[in-house]
Amino acid sequence: MEQEQKKRVFSAVQPTGSLTIGNYIGAIKNFIAMQDEYDCIYAVADLHSITVDIKPEILRKNVTDVTALFLAAGIDPEKSVFFVQSHVHEHAELTWILNCYTQFGEAKRMTQFKDKSKKAPENVNVGLFDYPSLMAADILLYQTDCVPVGKDQMQHVELARTIAERFNNRNGQTFRVPEGVLPKLGAKVQSLSNPSAKMSKSDVDPNSSILILDKPEDIVRKFRRAVTDSDSEIRYDPTNKPGVSNLLTIYSAFTGKDVKDCEKEFCGKDYAYLKAQVAEATAEGLRSTRENFERLSKQKDYLFSVMKTGAEKASYIARRTMSKVWRKLGFVRP
Ligand code: TRP
Repeated sequence: MEQEQKKRVFSAVQPTGSLTIGNYIGAIKNFIAMQDEYDCIYAVADLHSITVDIKPEILRKNVTDVTALFLAAGIDPEKSVFFVQSHVHEHAELTWILNCYTQFGEAKRMTQFKDKSKKAPENVNVGLFDYPSLMAADILLYQTDCVPVGKDQMQHVELARTIAERFNNRNGQTFRVPEGVLPKLGAKVQSLSNPSAKMSKSDVDPNSSILILDKPEDIVRKFRRAVTDSDSEIRYDPTNKPGVSNLLTIYSAFTGKDVKDCEKEFCGKDYAYLKAQVAEATAEGLRSTRENFERLSKQKDYLFSVMKTGAEKASYIARRTMSKVWRKLGFVRP
């Protein structure tokens, strides 16, 4: 009974590159925290990841690794539905239908499409253009209430709302209209080498990001090299002191202390001390995830069984939505 009153959450992560503490603080930590209060569904968005060039062996490894990492970090497959997008064929089916409810002009206005087209002009494929329809299908299949996403994905969630409303207006109530929710303040992690840019798993400079699975000694080394500024005051001021503020943000995220309190804690200390403390808090905060990952990533049978059960649970919900969709649109279903 209580289960039915919980709001439904859906989110997904693409299995591209190695996940960073930006993904951990901005997404995964929130996903874990939401598991008790919400009815959560989380996916590995493997269909999305072929919109850019990705080698088959890399995709194969990444999907298993991301699965192990989510479980290692604390996604509980008993509490939440956790699955791989391509294992539920309804995602591809609903995408086609939603394509016919997405305007060309709307898709063309998506910032991510424009950015990615510029980045790889030799591969501006239709899938890249269509990426938001697939994402809308992900969300709408599960009658989702809340979609926790980073700022860069908010425009896609907005488009999913538009598509849902358009479909409902033409065909009658079919989809719940979802709402995007940004992570709480302070959750945005910037690059260590260029603190005015977001920490990104696709950055070419390996020192710019801390990976969730980095060894403690690498974490220490990378923080030691982090760009700060030429004065020596430890103060939270993202505009004038982006590097130092970023370190405080990370420290706050891993210690659970308020940024203002962290600022006080480092009052009068130097940057070397700050960096060492941030490194220690980060290494410690990631320790159990790293250890669990070491163990779980070798248990392939277990990982596959989690994927399989997750896909079964997801399919059950997805099938119900799809049968409504087919019926509303006049498809003959013998
Ligand atoms: N596009 C998202 C990203 O790259 C991942 C994603 C795919 C997603 N489908 C989704 C996020 C549905 C939220 C809801 O971050």
